[in-house]
Amino acid sequence: MAEDLSDYRKSYEKSELTITQSDQDPFKQFKKWFEEVEEVAGVDEVNAMTVSTIGLDGFPKSRVVLLKSYDEEGFVFYTNYESEKGKAIAANPDVCLSFFWPNLERQVIIKGKAEKVSEETSKTYFNSRPEGSRLGAWVSPQSDVIPDREFLEKRLKDLEKEFSENEIPKPDYWGGYKVIPVEFEFWQGRPNRLHDRLRYTPGGVHWKLDRLAP
Ligand SMILES: Cc1cc2nc3c(=O)[nH]c(=O)nc-3n(C[C@H](O)[C@H](O)[C@H](O)COP(=O)(O)O)c2cc1C
Repeated sequence: MAEDLSDYRKSYEKSELTITQSDQDPFKQFKKWFEEVEEVAGVDEVNAMTVSTIGLDGFPKSRVVLLKSYDEEGFVFYTNYESEKGKAIAANPDVCLSFFWPNLERQVIIKGKAEKVSEETSKTYFNSRPEGSRLGAWVSPQSDVIPDREFLEKRLKDLEKEFSENEIPKPDYWGGYKVIPVEFEFWQGRPNRLHDRLRYTPGGVHWKLDRLAP
């Protein structure tokens, strides 16, 4: 089977990114881009991001998760601490986040260190989730091999009964990670593959800003 996809070609013409336009603070630059992407619309889950970890097998692995909050310190997502990514992060907290926003032809790549958020923060967020999602955290031994789909359906029924009278508590193995950035890259598609790439790295008091070749 051979599929030729070489005709997929696109000229990127929607915007530009210059050092003078960019905020000196990469968190503020992220916020500006995120809000512009939201305003233009056309991306279903603007907060969907790819998180890459270095696995216990030595391979990188990427998967999509949802960004649930960010501030001037870092970027937070929630997951099962005993999942494959949870085990990977426990052994090596160095991760990479990336966003692709095709509506504005933009990509953001953030390298950083993942650390668990406080139990209190995880609990507050957990309690804000709909009942089905709270139960789901109990039902699914994320990333484990399971016999079949019925295994999940049965566990869901059993847990619905178990928690029918009480509030659903947050499982100990479930919570958030905050990724504290060590590097940001902002990529804006431009015509003729001469894209704009600006990289922020720590530079003493302020971040150092460099333009990279596309
Ligand atoms: C749009 C989208 C959003 C997702 N959001 C999350 C999330 O916020 N947290 C999470 O643990 N998994 C989320 N997932 C599932 C993950 O991609 C992944 O399958 C799961 O976390 C298990 O990954 P692991 O086995 O590598 O640990 C999402 C998947 C998609 C496609």
